[in-house]
Amino acid sequence: MLKHPLPRLDKDDELRNLLLPYCRLKNGEIWKDKIAGHRIICGDCTDEKILSKLFTDHLGKLAIHDPPYNFIAFQKFDEYGFYQWCKKWIELTDKFLDNNSSLYVWLGAEHKNFFQPFGIFLNLMSETRFRSKNFITLRNQRGFGTQKNWMSVRQELLYFTKGKPVFNVEAEYTDIPKVLKGYYKTVNGLTTDNFERSKSKNIRAGNVWIDIQQVFYRMEENVNGCYAQKPLKAIERIIIASSNENEIVFDFFLHSGTTLIASEKLKRKCFSVDIDPVFCEISIRRLEHFRKTGKTGWQNSNPFYSDIINDKKIKAYLKSEYKIEY
Ligand SMILES: C[S@@+](CC[C@H](N)C(=O)[O-])C[C@H]1O[C@@H](n2cnc3c(N)ncnc32)[C@H](O)[C@@H]1O
Repeated sequence: MLKHPLPRLDKDDELRNLLLPYCRLKNGEIWKDKIAGHRIICGDCTDEKILSKLFTDHLGKLAIHDPPYNFIAFQKFDEYGFYQWCKKWIELTDKFLDNNSSLYVWLGAEHKNFFQPFGIFLNLMSETRFRSKNFITLRNQRGFGTQKNWMSVRQELLYFTKGKPVFNVEAEYTDIPKVLKGYYKTVNGLTTDNFERSKSKNIRAGNVWIDIQQVFYRMEENVNGCYAQKPLKAIERIIIASSNENEIVFDFFLHSGTTLIASEKLKRKCFSVDIDPVFCEISIRRLEHFRKTGKTGWQNSNPFYSDIINDKKIKAYLKSEYKIEY
């Protein structure tokens, strides 16, 4: 059991509103980190004015985006609307990426809707000057949809490039385990199997990642209140492979701040956006917490704990709505 849980903030507007007074950024405002040069702006990533304020005269070398792809399922957009929406932020990504750079996009596929918006998005990308480079699968440990279908245990990650960006293979020797035994080979008179050879320092990470745990509440990196947190290890792998130290990595959908923490750990500068002041605040607090404690999240607490314990209204609300006692 969690000691101080915080319910999903996207599902509870009242709780979100109660937390808003504790957030530093309002729409259009930017936070500039004095220690490592990160930046976070609160705003809509399809708004060029917001992005110009974020980047000033800088360009990024790597973009990692994790958009809310279920807009169609939630009927916020129809398919054409989703295409138009993605087109705006992809064009702006192009504008603020250096000529030699990489773009990674996490994008789900609705099985019951012809795997959309995956297809729509691939069509959109084929109309840009990005080149498709790889299609990575992150294998989840736990799945969904087990009753009348194959259990879904994957997350899709698309990798695109522009020009000739860096790809640091040697920086990321894989710890992706081999799962099938076989393929014997005799080396210097010794017959070795592939498990043994996979310990070599020269094996690159492949495009099926089965060594990364989905974030759940018992993990140190867990951020209570968030609903779509990506594992740090996945973001770190991307950053190591596709950027160098001191370069700018950007993320238009920051949410729990995973790209920010990974950038801090790997000495990159993270320039990022979230439309919601609460998620901007969570990300800033996550960075501050990391610098203070070395911890990447709140396994048994949450980013707003110090405010909630002194706020009678929020305490009463959590008790009446969720039976959570502070
Ligand atoms: C799927 S989550 C990203 C999760 C993130 N990768 C992480 O590890 O925490 C999507 C985020 O995008 C934000 N968002 C949605 N529409 C946006 C927009 N138009 N501009 C900027 N942020 C937006 C939401 O507030 C949400 O926090």
